[in-house]
This record gives sequence, structure tokens and C-alpha cells, in this order.
Amino acid sequence: MTDLVTERTPSPATRPEPHVPPGPRHGARLHGLAFAANRRRVTRRMSGRYGPTFTLRLPAWGPTVFLSEPALVKQLFTTSPELIGNMEPNLGRVLGGSSFFNLDGDAHKRQRKLLLPPFHGRRVQSYEGIIEEEPLLETATWPEGEPFPTQESMMRITLNAILRAVFGAQGEEYEALRTLLPPMVTLGSRLTILPGPELDLGRFSPWGRFRIYRRQFDEIIDRLIATAQADPDLDQRNDILALMLQARYDDGEAMAARAVADQLLTLLAAGHETTATTLAWAVERIRRHPPILERLVAEADEGGSDLRKATIIEVQRTRPVIDITGRKVKGESVALGPWVLPRGYSIMVSISLIHDEDGVFPNAAAFDPDRFVGVNPDTYSWVPFGGGTRRCIGAAFANMEMDVVLRTLLREFEIATTDEPDERWHSRGVAWAPGRGGMAVVRRRHATA
Ligand code: HEM
Repeated sequence: MTDLVTERTPSPATRPEPHVPPGPRHGARLHGLAFAANRRRVTRRMSGRYGPTFTLRLPAWGPTVFLSEPALVKQLFTTSPELIGNMEPNLGRVLGGSSFFNLDGDAHKRQRKLLLPPFHGRRVQSYEGIIEEEPLLETATWPEGEPFPTQESMMRITLNAILRAVFGAQGEEYEALRTLLPPMVTLGSRLTILPGPELDLGRFSPWGRFRIYRRQFDEIIDRLIATAQADPDLDQRNDILALMLQARYDDGEAMAARAVADQLLTLLAAGHETTATTLAWAVERIRRHPPILERLVAEADEGGSDLRKATIIEVQRTRPVIDITGRKVKGESVALGPWVLPRGYSIMVSISLIHDEDGVFPNAAAFDPDRFVGVNPDTYSWVPFGGGTRRCIGAAFANMEMDVVLRTLLREFEIATTDEPDERWHSRGVAWAPGRGGMAVVRRRHATA
């Protein structure tokens, strides 16, 4: 994909004179604090004041240009990574030096080439069986007729799904990871957005605690790798760890054990909370739209999926759990539309601003899955998975998982509708979740034996 994009799209001309979008001239520190406290609110306010493209000076990222017009997003995502590269600091801060989020240029391209095939759409269908078991196990304990938040259930479903399909974990290692990872991921998610140096002041400090978790994680992964390498039937295994261990870079080299551990943690950190939170929002949305819910149930009973797939797309448009994704100007300067951004500038795609724009999605505030029935969303205006050479590698996995989980819920439960106000946005660190955890009230549709 990378090559196609750079070949087809002329790189923006490098021009010497900077011409940067407007933004507040003073109060950088205040804006930085406000952004850290509630970035959704700040970007909304700034776009209201300065227009769809504006500049903020942020402590972590320096001068940062926010984009929310599909034409500029397209230009950004199709520009060569030599001119516009990875943004730092990012999630890689807690995921290790070999994490996707820490790689740029050729190293990033090389790693993607190795890991794209296992995440290909057709390949991930083979995990459907595993994914199907998880919601059935988890929902066996759901209370009937009483309100409860679905977020934590969704977190367990997506954690177990990744541990089995991606890590190939079983038995002791599976149980150890299930205990270790929830607190580790929660802490890591908070540390990612915590400004300031990474001070390790022992186990009572956040970074110190995180490093202890990381050592425990590495020990378990070493055991998983050793078991896999000793398995005479490794080539029959389908999990992503087994595929990683057998894959070779173009020069014939295998992935180092530490790189495997960093990437497994990356896949988990990137794919667990995001998918779970989108599912919690799906419950929140469909309960507030009874006619859609009714049609979804009828469709699931008949074995269809068009409306369900469109609903998942519309949930991600109206409730994108990741609201921004960033890049950095690496060339001397880069032209984006009328702007010329100098080297070192950060660029953020404001996913939620684009998705909420009436000029892009007519009547954008309405939750209307029918807008996507039989229609593929546009690559540069529907961007919950980002785009270009760094587009989410797990998008097909996440879509398949969300489809299977939602289908299972619709078939197994009568989900009560509600006219309560929409749940508010709540920041979990990286992901934006429904404030009350995606509350549900359900009854089993079939009596259990
Ligand atoms: C609804 C669920 C998900 C959402 C909303 C989501 C969103 C994103 C976004 C916005 C990015 C940044 C893309 C960019 O900068 O252009 C990203 C990157 C990434 N995601 Fe996802 N993601 C989801 C699920 C997953 C899953 C299930 C996995 C793997 C199991 C995964 C693995 C990754 C990885 C490895 C990257 C970094 C790719 C790179 O740097 O080349 N994600 N994701």
C-alpha cells in the first residue's frame, strides 16, 4: 500500500516560506493543560474559533496543526513517510523500542510487511470460532432485568480473544496474562498521556510499577515463545505469535524475542480497549434507537449482516474511541493545502471533528446506520482507524470481532431500549468511553438448560 500511495500521489512541494494555520498566540501553557484535561472539548472550541484547520502549541508535541477536512487528510495520509513521519511521543512510550508506535521510515515499513499478512481480512476470518466462544462464556453470568455496565464485560471478551488468537496463549500462561494485563494496560494508558519525565521511583511510583509489570510480562512471553519453538507442529498453528516466529524479513532474518514481546504488547494495547469500548458504545447507541435495534434482531435471526455492519461503521463515526492520530513534519517543510508547515511541526487528524461535520456527513448528529448500508465509507472522511502507511493493522480483526460479538448479543438477549439521555464521553486515557460504561438491561431470549 505504501508504494502505491507514494507513486500515485505527487509529494507536496517543499517550499521555504512557512504559512501556518491560525491559533491562539498566547496562553500556550493554559491550552496545554486544557488539552490534557479534555482534548475533545478544546479541539471543538478551537475549530469554532479558528476554522477547520488550526494550530495549538502543546507541551508534549510542540506546535501542532489540527486537520479536519477530508482533502487535507487525504494529502497527509498519502504523503511519503520521508516527508511526514511518525509523531512522538506516542503510545510507544510504554510499549517498548520495537513497538510499531516507535518505528518510522524503513524500519516501520519492514515490520508492517512482516505482520500485514496475518492481519489480512480473509486470514482473520479463521479466528471467528474463537471469538464466538468468548461472548457466550462472558454473558453466561449477565444479570437479567437489572441495569449493568457492559464495558468491563467487553474488556474481558476482547482481552481473551487477543490472548487466544494473537498470543496463542493457553493454560498457565493464559491465566497469568489475564491477571497481569488489565491493571498493566490501565496504568500504561494513563502513563501515555502523563506529561513529564519517566521517573522510576520504585514500586510506589507509576513508572516504577509499570516496569515491574513489564518484567513479569516479558517472563511470560519468553515462556510462550519457548513452548512454541519446541512445538513440532508449530507450522500447523494459526495464532499470530506462531506466524510471527515463522515469518522472515526480506533478508531472511527472524524477529528477535524482545521485538516479538514488544509487538504482542502493542497489539494488545492497541486492540483490546479500543474494540471493547466501541462495543460498549454500540450497546449505548442501539438501546436509544429502538427501530434500528428491532431490525438488527430480525436480521440476526435471518442470518443477515448488512445492517449490523453498517451499524458498527455508524457507531465508529458518531462515537470514535480514538479522537486524534498524529504525524510529524520530517522534511524541510511540507505543503498541505494552502499551508506550508516547517520541519518539527506536529500534525493531528481530528477524527471526531471530521465525523461530526455536516458538510462531510449530512445531518451528522443523527445516528443513522442506513447511510452505510451497502456503501463503503470514504477512506479519508471515515477515519476511526487512521489512514495511509500507518493505518490500523488490526482493523479487519476488530471489525470481525465486533460483528461476531454484536451478533451473539442480538441472538441471545432481548436488549431493553431506553429514553435516558445519551451517555457522556469519558476519557479512559487513550480511548473515549461511554461515561456510565455502556449500561444495558437484558433478558435471555432462550431459556438456559
Ligand atoms: C475498534 C478498534 C480499533 C480502533 C478504533 C483502532 C484505531 C487505531 C488508530 C486510530 C490507529 C492509528 C492509525 C494512524 O495513525 O493512521 C491504530 C493503529 C494501530 N492499531 Fe488499531 N484500532 C483498533 C483495533 C485494533 C486491533 C484489534 C489491533 C490488533 C490486534 C490493532 C493494532 C494496531 C496497531 C499495531 C497499530 C499501529 C500501526 C502502525 O503504526 O503501523 N488495532 N489503530
